[in-house]
Amino acid sequence: MDKFIIHGGHRLRGSIRVNGSKNAALPMMAAALLLERDEVLVLRNVPDLGDVRTMGTLLERLGVRVERERATLKLAVADDTPVQAPYEIVKTMRAGICTLGPLVGRRGEAHVSHPGGCAIGVRPVDLHVRGIAMLGARVKTDHGYIVATAKRLRGGTVYLGGAFGSTVTGTANVLMAAVLARGTTVIEYAAQEPEVQELANLLNAMGARIEGIGSYRLVVHGVERLRGTRWTVIPDRIEAGTFMACAAVTAGDLLVENVRAEHMTAVLETLREMGCGLEVGSFSVRVRGPRRLRPVDLNTLPFPGFPTDLQSQFMACCCLADGISVVTEKIYPERFSHLPEFCRMGARGRKYESAAIISGVRELHGAPVMASDLRAGAGLVVAGLAARGYTEVQRIYHLDRGYDHVERRLNAVGAKIRRVAEKAKEAPVRETGTG
Ligand code: EPZ
Repeated sequence: MDKFIIHGGHRLRGSIRVNGSKNAALPMMAAALLLERDEVLVLRNVPDLGDVRTMGTLLERLGVRVERERATLKLAVADDTPVQAPYEIVKTMRAGICTLGPLVGRRGEAHVSHPGGCAIGVRPVDLHVRGIAMLGARVKTDHGYIVATAKRLRGGTVYLGGAFGSTVTGTANVLMAAVLARGTTVIEYAAQEPEVQELANLLNAMGARIEGIGSYRLVVHGVERLRGTRWTVIPDRIEAGTFMACAAVTAGDLLVENVRAEHMTAVLETLREMGCGLEVGSFSVRVRGPRRLRPVDLNTLPFPGFPTDLQSQFMACCCLADGISVVTEKIYPERFSHLPEFCRMGARGRKYESAAIISGVRELHGAPVMASDLRAGAGLVVAGLAARGYTEVQRIYHLDRGYDHVERRLNAVGAKIRRVAEKAKEAPVRETGTG
């Protein structure tokens, strides 16, 4: 297991380029399952990440030929008979659940391992299941697998509202199931995240007929078949926000390139509130961190609200702000595993129900800390960049699932991060992936 040794206290300066979005690419890859044999889906700007490789392996098991050339993936269905998304793959990457909708929609049957809970909370899939069932599939759980069958799905009205708003991958699943269904499907309370919008745009380019993209109400007129197409994956707004937090916390001056600012309104507003100087260009944002950040009240919310996937990175900033911040988690009430790690570094904060109250300190100090999921790890890197001395971030395999060579890219703008291979003293942890 590798770890990072971060020598903190260096201001980040220069320009850094954001890669394609992991969470947009994963369901788009699953959309290849909807193709007729020999049709080819070409995805450009696909990040080379652990989760993307895992999705590639899963699709290969499902009869899809996957070829990568640099940032371009070519996906083509060679065999359209396999229907099983196995436990040993889905347990390491929750996005494997995105195969459920296209499998039952195109192949009439899906056996997808139940992804279970994970480090950021319970994460049920009841809305996915309910949505697929509303389109006429028979759905049951069998020995840990969600088994869905339907000769051909039929359009219907699906409501995707849950206790914490809509569902991102659930909307992707129902959308992919509905495009080949007989008749018209109405998805009420669809997720509006840019990743869902882009999936819908891709499906339309493949021949689907989806209306209302970007709204709470998607109307899908079923078609007989889809064709291949070429598509460029949008920039990763979470990676962009992570780099912006790195600039903010180190009083840096960073030009973050390949950014869609319209996907990041809440994040940019939060940076302004914290006292950062921003220059928003057509595809870039320059962030200048102040000498001392101002505290904020932060609520994570579904898009266009502040994303839960940037909560830990911005909490790291709050740890050094000049006053008391309140960070309320409205998507995953238990997503605070980074807080005790920040406290090991000298932060002052405590969790109260689904919020953390952080009293900013003047200085964090390096310490050994542990990443328990992808974004918690990113938050620890942000904190480590600002801390005095050396921070050792363990279990960075979580980070590698979502950030491509993050240490090299941050070192190019002034960070001092070393990747060190650590002899496994313990068996790799067997928790479910959080993607
Ligand atoms: C996606 O997960 C992302 N993953 C997550 O990013 C992200 O944190 C999340 O959306 C929220 O933005 C991918 O896109 C691959 P949800 P998803 O279903 O779709 C509840 C990362 O770090 N819910 O929108 O699984 C759920 O418990 C990852 O990159 C139900 O109650 O999230 C949560 O409270 C982590 N029933 C809320 O809805 C369901 O059937 C939103 O979850 C489904 C979800």
